[in-house]
Amino acid sequence: MHIHKLEKFWIGLSLFLIAGFIASVIVGFTVLDLRVIGEQKPVDPAKLGETPFGNPGVRKVVENGETTYKVYVLARQFLYQPGTGTPITVPTDTKVTFYLTSPDVMHGFEVVGTNLNTMVIPGQVAKFTTVFHEAKTYGILCNEYCGAAHHAMEGQLKVVPKSQFDEKNLVQ
Ligand code: CUA
Repeated sequence: MHIHKLEKFWIGLSLFLIAGFIASVIVGFTVLDLRVIGEQKPVDPAKLGETPFGNPGVRKVVENGETTYKVYVLARQFLYQPGTGTPITVPTDTKVTFYLTSPDVMHGFEVVGTNLNTMVIPGQVAKFTTVFHEAKTYGILCNEYCGAAHHAMEGQLKVVPKSQFDEKNLVQ
């Protein structure tokens, strides 16, 4: 069977693209260490007061002798609670799990300069766990258009050395 030269070229190109897409996913998960945001539980945006989001902030959890932290953050028009005004403060070299939701519209939560980046969707809780090894202050940005002051929606995440972490600022 004779296959036209151009036909062969386009078949070859399609196969190359498919291989490229598969390779990009593999490279993303292995080399770049990208992850899909885990578990998204439904939550009623009108009843957040009955959840830990009613008192957002950093909570300490001691389980099986291991200390970890849970950070509940509300992303709302046009601030992070906590994060804007008061930075989110967490220690280095400790497991930190973020829980994020929105009472109004869709927002973003990107920790600038890291691969921590998620959408924050009303009615859902975005969750991710990370460990910061470097004491450093990061910017937080919203990268979903959420209204007139979207461009001004920002916050701060302060990672302090474990030995200097002040438990006074924890939420009970
Ligand atoms: Cu919040 Cu854009």
